[in-house]
Amino acid sequence: MLYLCPIVMSIKITEAVFCASSTTVEQRVAPFLPELAFIGRSNVGKSSLINMLCNNSKLAHTSSKPGKTTLINHFKINNSWYLVDLPGYGYAKLPKKERERLSKMIFEYINNSKELLNLFVLLDSRHDIQQIDLNFINMLGEAGVPFSIIYTKADKQGVNALAKQIEKNNTALKEYWEELPPTFVSSSQTRQGKEDILKHIENLLKHIKP
Ligand code: GTP
Ligand code: MG
Repeated sequence: MLYLCPIVMSIKITEAVFCASSTTVEQRVAPFLPELAFIGRSNVGKSSLINMLCNNSKLAHTSSKPGKTTLINHFKINNSWYLVDLPGYGYAKLPKKERERLSKMIFEYINNSKELLNLFVLLDSRHDIQQIDLNFINMLGEAGVPFSIIYTKADKQGVNALAKQIEKNNTALKEYWEELPPTFVSSSQTRQGKEDILKHIENLLKHIKP
């Protein structure tokens, strides 16, 4: 289901501060607050999306070259929750050892952070969902990790091509999933999707049990 909430005003990010980088859940620094994390293949646009949501192009480091983010980066939002920028998975040009190290770091975080409220899995809106994405998403299902999908770089093609691509990817996902997760379309360039994603985050934060 494509989530659109055009009328309702979303949560306002008034403060976004880089807090710390870590390689394990143990290394994170207090306070421990709800976390919303971003994952996906290298270069899909995770760090750019965090910057777009926070209205700060310099917050998370971005690069046109894949493999920029190599640590777990926590950004404290409104002094009450975190956006978490994770390294990308599956960058084929990295040495095998480094790829394995990043993969271990990502899985350790996903499986052990008690504060992780939702994982946003980012997919490039121009491309077919790849087996590595399907494997990752299916692993989340098996591990019971709540997740949503965000298509990135929507500005790079027309609306018809975009709709067609998403439909194709949904068909691929439905081979494994009876119900699709909340799905959003975004562009860090045009800010498309910002309100819908922030509204979704607001809803997720509202439903935390005290
Ligand atoms: P890693 O940290 O290497 O895993 O990459 P990442 O997923 O954090 O990607 P990043 O945000 O660094 O963006 C990668 C490249 O894509 C950069 O050159 C961005 O400017 C570009 N990019 C990201 N989002 C968008 C978008 O919505 N539209 C366009 N046109 N370019 C984008
Ligand atoms: Mg990054």
